[in-house]
Order: sequence, then structure tokens, then C-alpha cells
Amino acid sequence: MEEIELKSVIRKYSYEELDESFRKLVDQAKNATQQSYAPYSQFRVGAAVLLADGQVVIGSNQENAAYPSGLCAERTALFSANVQHSDTPVTAIAVAARNVDGFLPVPVTPCGACRQVMLEVEHRYGRPMTILLYGTDAIYVIDSVTDILPLEFELEGLLTGHRMKEHH
Ligand code: THU
Repeated sequence: MEEIELKSVIRKYSYEELDESFRKLVDQAKNATQQSYAPYSQFRVGAAVLLADGQVVIGSNQENAAYPSGLCAERTALFSANVQHSDTPVTAIAVAARNVDGFLPVPVTPCGACRQVMLEVEHRYGRPMTILLYGTDAIYVIDSVTDILPLEFELEGLLTGHRMKEHH
């Protein structure tokens, strides 16, 4: 028997310690919570995606009476960025969340489905995406999705006998 230890690195910053461009991105994620549609959970999530050319695309969670039909803020923002700017790599995503009491002290962490989508965005553009998770007490900064989604589901194994065509 052999033990495999998995290592992830998350850095904890205060808002003031962040670079200006990251501070702005966090502010945009916080603002995007205003466009959340969350009548069922009252949990308003905002995401702001930074592209390689400096453009920012925002998203927020959109709920539905048929619960699983809704979508998280992260995927709303990433899919929108990929539609509107499909040739421009994504370099970072900031996420913020508030409930009826305000922004959460502890950083909000993306669900598994969003991590899987974030990972594919990294693969698609061939570069790591910085993840900024906002909390009023601290901001977590993560250099790559692989840090929060170890043992990823890889497409290679699916494609027996085929090579995947490059799509951008
Ligand atoms: N939600 C997000 O938008 N992002 C997350 O990282 C966590 C969960 C949304 C989904 C749903 O609308 C609400 O928050 C409660 O789960």
C-alpha cells in the first residue's frame, strides 16, 4: 500500500493587500450580486471574469421555481464570457456572496459543478485561472482550478481510439 498526498495552496489576503486590478475585480463581483435572481435561497452570488485583454464579464446566480434549472454565478459569468469573447482567454474570476445579513465573513467557495466548468476553461485556453473568493474577513486567492479540484475527470480516457479536436 502506498499513500498519495494531495497538496493545494490557497493564499489568504486582506482587501488592501490585493493588487489594484484584483481589488477592482472583487468589487465587480460584489456589485454583480445586485443582479442576482435568488427568490428561493435569498443567497445572492456575484462573479466577475477577467479576460486577457482586460475586459470584464459579470454573472450572478439565476434561480428558477424548477430548482435544478437555475445556474450559479460562476457558470453564468464564464459561459457568457465564452460566448461573447470566445477567442479571448480567461485569466481570473472573482466570486462574492451575500445573504439577508450581508456579505459573508468567510469566503464563498464554488460548487463542484462550477469547479469542473472552471477547469475546462483553463484547459480550453491553456492557462491557469486565478480564483479570488471574497469574504469580509479574508479573500482567498488560488492560482489554478487544479488546486480546488484534484483528481480531475479527464476527457482523454473517454476518447478511446479518437483524438480530440482542438476547439476554441
Ligand atoms: N450558488 C452560486 O451561485 N455559486 C456558488 O458558488 C454557490 C451557490 C448559488 C446557487 C443558488 O442559486 C444559491 O447560490 C444557493 O445555493
